[in-house]
Amino acid sequence: MIEYRNLRVAILGGGSVGAQVAALLLQHGDELAARAGAGLELVGVAVRDVKAKRDTEIPKHLITADAESLILGADIVVELIGGLEPARSYILQALNSGADVITANKAVMANHGPELFEAAEQVGAQLYYEAAVGGAIPIIRPLRDSLAGDRVSRILGIVNGTTNYILDRMDVHGDDLHDALAEATRLGYAEADPTADIEGFDAAQKAAILASLAFHTTVPLDTVYREGITTVTRDQVQAARKAGYVVKLLAICERFTDAATGVEGVCARVHPALVPLDHPLAAVHGANNAVFVEAEAAGDLMFYGAGAGGIETASAVLGDLVSAARRHVAGGPGVAESTHSNLPVLPMSSVTTRYQITLSVVDEPGVLAAIAQLFSDHGVSVEAVSQSVRDGQAGSAPTATLVIVTHRASESSLASTVAALAASPVVSSIVSTLRVEGLQ
Ligand code: NDP
Ligand code: HSE
Repeated sequence: MIEYRNLRVAILGGGSVGAQVAALLLQHGDELAARAGAGLELVGVAVRDVKAKRDTEIPKHLITADAESLILGADIVVELIGGLEPARSYILQALNSGADVITANKAVMANHGPELFEAAEQVGAQLYYEAAVGGAIPIIRPLRDSLAGDRVSRILGIVNGTTNYILDRMDVHGDDLHDALAEATRLGYAEADPTADIEGFDAAQKAAILASLAFHTTVPLDTVYREGITTVTRDQVQAARKAGYVVKLLAICERFTDAATGVEGVCARVHPALVPLDHPLAAVHGANNAVFVEAEAAGDLMFYGAGAGGIETASAVLGDLVSAARRHVAGGPGVAESTHSNLPVLPMSSVTTRYQITLSVVDEPGVLAAIAQLFSDHGVSVEAVSQSVRDGQAGSAPTATLVIVTHRASESSLASTVAALAASPVVSSIVSTLRVEGLQ
């Protein structure tokens, strides 16, 4: 029998993820010790309410409400409380005492990542956060380690399970957003406040984390452009499928050169987008997540799987735990945050994308020419136009629905084109405007 050095592991939070991490650690302790090269002794699980009934039971003697004392005696602290405070303070306390920290907390990483990395670097401790993006999916370590020799140019991610579940229900079952959200909440996918999911805040936090890591640049959360899915209708989703697309909430992180200024920089954005049916992301159903990475040398890669769930997320947390334990055994400094590129964060207005614009117009001679002129005036090239005509009400002219797909243009040119269309006397209404992503 091999004698291992024992490492003391403290878990903060005994909820959906924390209770599963504790259970798996107790169940598979010997196997994990063999992989880590160190014994992993669970010394306690800090919770808010020690008497609360838990779906996954934690041995009573391990449960405590005294998180601070637990942190003081630990070699590795696993933060699974969530939110900003007290999670941030506990992580700082743990790092300052020299403990390695593992967290699944996207909010704290997106808002306070640089501060936490700096604290870790000061004492030579490690900060791991694989579960903060994509739940069970390995994406942080591949970006940080496996792709460290490459240059990532773009990431397209479905990183919020709730919104993917909702949009998939609208597409496959014809649900409306409200009913699909109720079901996502019942199934436990949504955040306590589902606004975080449907308004894109959760995805924006994950986008900030992915962009910072992929581009070796600090991308502050408040620079991430964000639109949620609350304006997406069942009709739009159904029309998209007929046109050969699915609607997905995408987190897009890009490195590009601003055409107007020649400045190379990065941008992260979250919004609903039309994805062609033959793109791998179109096949991501239900609450699953996927991250599609475009790298200069590696080409296209896709990471796919469960983006949430207690036991699924626990898998990623335990992977981090084994890594942290290995470093304790091997010694040496931790992996510092990589921000050496320090590229400027470019505004959303300089991103180039394509729009699909659906317009209702009066079906009269000259209307199409007037609309084409508006696109041309704003420097936007039209790729395709399709038209369907409906009879007008008694005594009025028939109306036509025009679906216009543009070539790539800057976001500012596209936005000003839409504003000009809205003000044009030949346009009755703008039915929908969606960006198109994932086309070659
Ligand atoms: P839960 O809400 O299920 O659990 C939170 C736990 O933290 C509870 O045990 C709670 O105690 C405890 N807690 C809350 N406040 C305190 C406090 N002040 N001191 C000590 N303990 C406290 O959260 P999850 O397990 O779902 O999420 C944990 C983390 O994992 C979050 O950062 C989340 O974003 C992340 N994550 C979660 C995923 C999921 O599918 N659930 C997926 C990916 C990441 P009590 O039980 O007594 O209330
Ligand atoms: N509410 C989140 C989601 C949980 O739906 O993806 C995982 O971060």
